[in-house]
Amino acid sequence: MAERTGRPAEHSGFPGHSGHPGRLGRPTLAVVGATGAVGRVMLQILSQHADIWGEIRLLASPRSAGRKLAVRGEEVEVAALSEAALDGVDVAMFDVPDEVAAHWAPIAAAKGVIVVDNSGAFRMDPDVPLVVPEVNPHTTRMRPRGIIANPNCTTLSMIVALGALHAEFGLRELVVSSYQAVSGAGRAGVETLRQQLSLVAGTELGTNPGDVRRAVGDNTGPFPEPVALNVVPWAGSLREDGWSSEEMKVRDESRKILGLPHLPVAVTCVRVPVVTTHSLTVHARFEDTVTVARAREILATAPGVVLFDDPAAGEFPTPADVVGTDPTWVGRVRRALDDPTALELFVCGDNLRKGAALNTAQIAELVAAELSVRHPGKA
Ligand SMILES: NC(=O)c1ccc[n+]([C@@H]2O[C@H](COP(=O)([O-])OP(=O)(O)OC[C@H]3O[C@@H](n4cnc5c(N)ncnc54)[C@H](OP(=O)(O)O)[C@@H]3O)[C@@H](O)[C@H]2O)c1
Repeated sequence: MAERTGRPAEHSGFPGHSGHPGRLGRPTLAVVGATGAVGRVMLQILSQHADIWGEIRLLASPRSAGRKLAVRGEEVEVAALSEAALDGVDVAMFDVPDEVAAHWAPIAAAKGVIVVDNSGAFRMDPDVPLVVPEVNPHTTRMRPRGIIANPNCTTLSMIVALGALHAEFGLRELVVSSYQAVSGAGRAGVETLRQQLSLVAGTELGTNPGDVRRAVGDNTGPFPEPVALNVVPWAGSLREDGWSSEEMKVRDESRKILGLPHLPVAVTCVRVPVVTTHSLTVHARFEDTVTVARAREILATAPGVVLFDDPAAGEFPTPADVVGTDPTWVGRVRRALDDPTALELFVCGDNLRKGAALNTAQIAELVAAELSVRHPGKA
């Protein structure tokens, strides 16, 4: 990959360039897909985190060119993604559909841009690291293609807690069920749930076979079944032997992140009528006998994890409270009744923050720190 040599900070000519004198010499960031569900949360995170970037350039499809979005308290005009729009960019976050990332990420990398990709296009590429900064930060530098992948939101919603337990106990098997929010399917998912809720609110629906389906009509958006007043045991597309693509992602990505290529993983992914925040039940089997007391200590002190577990006081994480927060929340910690080597957990994580935008921002910050060490003038 071409190594960036660093450039004097000058006005790029892009409408998003702030010209803020304090930002001179800092790396230029592009947010590709800034108008999407993940992109919008990314702009909030960039506004909340330490201001380490020089110019922040907002890119999306030509449909959005000319729109203005707020980041770091400034209105920035969105430009259409093009080769010219990537000129002079140091780091690009891609928050776009798989096919758009598959096409554009290599183009950006060939220009010397370091790409942090949120799509599924490169996650299982052996030459692309799949990074969770709390679990495998060292892999960020192993990027021969100039591309770093961000895991999928369901894997990310549990992997920080599992990584901490694995480091102490040695993971041997995972059995997982997800309860996934509709925003995991992007803006279209949220619009579908809101529209369906407006059609069923205040009715007696949900008491006869098919009454919800008739009320919401044939257009079920990105979901195969109505999602309001319902639970849908499906996410993604059909893979071999009846598995869904989402289930395969959780298995394959967990193995890659944890460096356990043969870990047995059984997953069932389920969509529920929650706007944002995925939940998972996890049965995790370890090398040896585990104790709940030690597991609780690990979870209570692991970076990025909050242990919220007092059923007697009615305390356990739920999406209604977790949404909009950064950590992985863990409750219902129990030792398996029939296996002293296994733990049962209930885990919640905001799929748009840690599940997508936050993890991407954390990776990009690791890269920016690396660039500033290599090119001190750029930080
Ligand atoms: N939602 C989640 O929980 C989640 C979690 C982890 C990862 N992801 C992944 O993150 C990516 C974005 O997901 P999302 O949920 O934010 O999707 P989304 O809400 O549908 O947004 C898609 C974004 O991509 C842009 N885009 C579409 N076609 C484009 C093109 N040809 N050129 C440039 N930009 C284009 C859109 O721009 P316009 O507005 O101009 O159309 C929009 O900004 C996907 O790969 C998804 O799998 C999502």
